[in-house]
Amino acid sequence: MTDSIITTTGLTKTFRDTHAVDALDLTINSGELFGLVGPDGAGKTTTLRLLAGLLTLSDGEATVTGYDLRKESESIKKKIGYMAQQFSLYAELTVLENLRFFAEINDVPKKEMAERTENLLQFARLTEFTNRRAGHLSGGMQKKLALACTLIHEPKILLLDEPTTGVDPISRREFWDILTNLHLEGTTTIVSTPYMDEADRCSRVGLIYEGKLVICDSPRKIKAELPGEMVEFLTSEWQKAKTLVENLPGVLEAQTYGEALHLLVEDGDKGLKQITKALTKNGIKFRGARVAPVRMEEAFISLIQRLEN
Ligand SMILES: Nc1ncnc2c1ncn2[C@@H]1O[C@H](COP(=O)(O)OP(=O)(O)O)[C@@H](O)[C@H]1O
Ligand SMILES: [Mg+2]
Repeated sequence: MTDSIITTTGLTKTFRDTHAVDALDLTINSGELFGLVGPDGAGKTTTLRLLAGLLTLSDGEATVTGYDLRKESESIKKKIGYMAQQFSLYAELTVLENLRFFAEINDVPKKEMAERTENLLQFARLTEFTNRRAGHLSGGMQKKLALACTLIHEPKILLLDEPTTGVDPISRREFWDILTNLHLEGTTTIVSTPYMDEADRCSRVGLIYEGKLVICDSPRKIKAELPGEMVEFLTSEWQKAKTLVENLPGVLEAQTYGEALHLLVEDGDKGLKQITKALTKNGIKFRGARVAPVRMEEAFISLIQRLEN
């Protein structure tokens, strides 16, 4: 027995000669908070739009909540809440009017309206702003309102396309607290994100690259896939430092994040000593040398670097 709620087999979408989604096999279990990550153009939006029944499949099969995506997409639409990256709220309508509008187009029974809107307003911490026009909300509040509108018909599955892109860090965290609550309540969510700290909050993450699912596992396991250990140095001469140390024996890979030079090495302690010595010898000033935990960001960049080579 499996409690999968979404299953795709060879899911494919082709636009002329672009394989936007290329033979995707994906199983999402009921109640998962699943993160979809990948570089721009990887196929995240197309995947979500296919699952939302907004695009026709070029090939393959998919079932969503037991319905066949090819034949029963209308039944599927009732079960899902899809939030597009450019979610269109009505700027001239108030917070409450937006909620009512989405309730109406989604056939929410009139008698349930009051309770649902009140709950959602509370949930999204928008109660104080009920009568403010959507166009006058901050970016973060607009995203929360968009999510509330997506939830108004109580969908079993949420498909959220980069819901926090361009949002300030505090609103981003608030938004994710809401997603975590929904997760705890049993909602199944697929969320695409360019932010690796967000990927870390998912129960499982799929990395999509050129339309293909490259890895799909829990954040812990994805990080454990990375060979060796990570050492970190902070230096304003990071370019010089990188060139100097990336080919030393025992150094598997070098990544830079601003002034931070992250080196994947066979052995953390040994690597730290060896690189410290090399930098010192060559007069490169640095600080904050340490063996550092691997983050999702390094794991994914490493995977993508290996794919591109
Ligand atoms: N409507 C479309 N017509 C033609 N090409 C498209 C269309 N939508 C997406 N693509 C192409 O499909 C690929 C995947 O796009 P998309 O799913 O938007 O990626 P992502 O969301 O990961 O950035 C890209 O190469 C993109 O240019
Ligand atoms: Mg996209």
